[in-house]
Amino acid sequence: MPDITTDVLIIGTGPAGSATAALLASYGVDVLVVNRYRWLAHTPRAHITNQRTMEVLRDLGPEVEAEAYMHAADQDLMGENVFCESLAGEELGRMKSWGNHPLSRAEHLMSSPSRMNDLPQTFMEPILFKTACSRGAQSRMSTEYLSHVQDADGVTTTCRDRLTGKDVVIRSKFLVGADGGNSLVAEHCGLPFEGKMGVGGSMNILFRADLSRYVAHRPSVLYWVMQPGADVGGIGMGLVRMVRPWNEWLIVWGYDINQPAPVVDAAMATQVARQLVGDPELEIELISANTWTVNNQYATHMQQGRVFIMGDAAHRHPPSNGLGSNTSIQDGFNLAWKLAAVVKGHAAPALLDSYSPERAPIAKQIVTRANQSIGEFGPIFEALGMDGGVDHQKIQASMAARCDATEAGAAQREALRKAIEFKKYEFDCHGVEMNQRYTSTAAVTDGQPQPAPNADMELHYQPTTWPGARLPHVWVFSADGKQHSTLDLCGRGQFTLLTGIGGEAWVAAAKAEAAKRGMPIRTHVIGPRQAIADHTGDWARASEIADNGCLLVRPDHHVAWRSATLTLDPAADLARVLTSILGK
Ligand code: FDA
Repeated sequence: MPDITTDVLIIGTGPAGSATAALLASYGVDVLVVNRYRWLAHTPRAHITNQRTMEVLRDLGPEVEAEAYMHAADQDLMGENVFCESLAGEELGRMKSWGNHPLSRAEHLMSSPSRMNDLPQTFMEPILFKTACSRGAQSRMSTEYLSHVQDADGVTTTCRDRLTGKDVVIRSKFLVGADGGNSLVAEHCGLPFEGKMGVGGSMNILFRADLSRYVAHRPSVLYWVMQPGADVGGIGMGLVRMVRPWNEWLIVWGYDINQPAPVVDAAMATQVARQLVGDPELEIELISANTWTVNNQYATHMQQGRVFIMGDAAHRHPPSNGLGSNTSIQDGFNLAWKLAAVVKGHAAPALLDSYSPERAPIAKQIVTRANQSIGEFGPIFEALGMDGGVDHQKIQASMAARCDATEAGAAQREALRKAIEFKKYEFDCHGVEMNQRYTSTAAVTDGQPQPAPNADMELHYQPTTWPGARLPHVWVFSADGKQHSTLDLCGRGQFTLLTGIGGEAWVAAAKAEAAKRGMPIRTHVIGPRQAIADHTGDWARASEIADNGCLLVRPDHHVAWRSATLTLDPAADLARVLTSILGK
């Protein structure tokens, strides 16, 4: 007999596990989330929070999104990505990053109702975890996952209660392994992975010191210190990362992965901080120090029967591009509504088979991108003459040569400019953040081809209502004149049907399907004198359908199906699509 019974058991209270628990609890699903430790993240870890993740928080409720902004460093404080010899020393280059270039800012503003920001994991995790608990998720800290077995009806999981030392047996319909980069759940499922763990070694030094005089005039999240001999994560430089502006910092400093991880004591931490800040008298208040490894590994399949993996359990990569926690939370947004639909009987278990085909390609993409971004520092080193050895004099001479009024000096300056500009693939990579499109049984294209890219899809978001893509955001207006994002019309655990004037038969079809299935389907007719109006015409331009066509939008804002115009039998068409997606 199990000690505890629940619908969904989640291992891990990190961004993936806490977000999924919050979503499931919001959808009214019985969920238990466990963590082997007594605490949530107690070091800042992930911090760059992209627009798509903020849309997930917005979907959880305006108060959740507002709390995140309240604790975050604003986008305006993120953008002057600096390359320097030390914070006090010579600045070598700079680029506007994280949507702070005016052109990029325009794209950000047009793409989403939500803003990118810097929210350390020490703030994000408690917001998500508290949301889960306040909405009825059960939680157990000091509870360590040990093993599981699954059968036709459910999963039986054994955990160790670390307070009593006793085993706890939990029976659930589904098990989610959100247990991080060393996932035991993934290992026990024997899920397939590609790539390697431990391709580089890094240490984190977290400290307090007021560095305003070096940074407040060029506000940034990241200050890249290029010094001979510095070596972080195999990329040959030290990183000074803002945790709280401008008195809490995290230095990332590399170590040789082929040697044992170093012990970072206060003396060593102070020495590294003084060197990177460039102030031999600097006093720091050391908060903590730890080591971590650079990984390059992703799961090619994220499900085994009733067991799923998500977050770092499925994608393990360096912090480049700031994709770790973001992708983890977005995994949860994909899986939670599907689990809820199956638990509530609205969908057959086959719906869950769409999770891995939708998220495993994203896992591969972001792991590849993050590791590629490390390599793309190379041209900066080359341009500065720092690409071979640690001969200080040679490097100083090479750095000085870029100031020469010679052809070689001009070429070197040009090479450095280009190399820094190319880093937009790490620091302003909006397309990777926003262009996620799914191909699976949970999006019905009816043979419509995916639109051809109209720009570099890594750098730029391309809105489309092609089934599988995220619904484009534009502002539409309620009768009181207030603006609402098209995303706000959707989500919150429900399918939504969007149509316009002349599409009323779609609304009738949706209502009939909802009644038949006992499953709510929200509807909106967008047009003049309707509850929602498109005063600017932005929706007409973005929707890619006629007024009497329709879009069926999934609870995770992705388009499930679209019809360009009213069809001969809207009721039959909608029934066909819902049956195909939900498997019943
Ligand atoms: P995460 O690792 O956050 O959470 C896993 C959860 O599972 C934890 O609650 C853990 O206690 C629990 N767990 C594990 N095994 C368990 C078991 N057997 N039983 C019960 N519970 C178990 N990213 C970034 O973008 N920038 C950065 O600077 C950093 N820095 C960084 C430093 C350190 C030290 C770490 C560990 C990680 C980072 N990261 C990072 C990565 C980033 O933190 C990561 O991508 C996200 O936290 C992933 O979220 P998850 O929820 O998937 O896993």
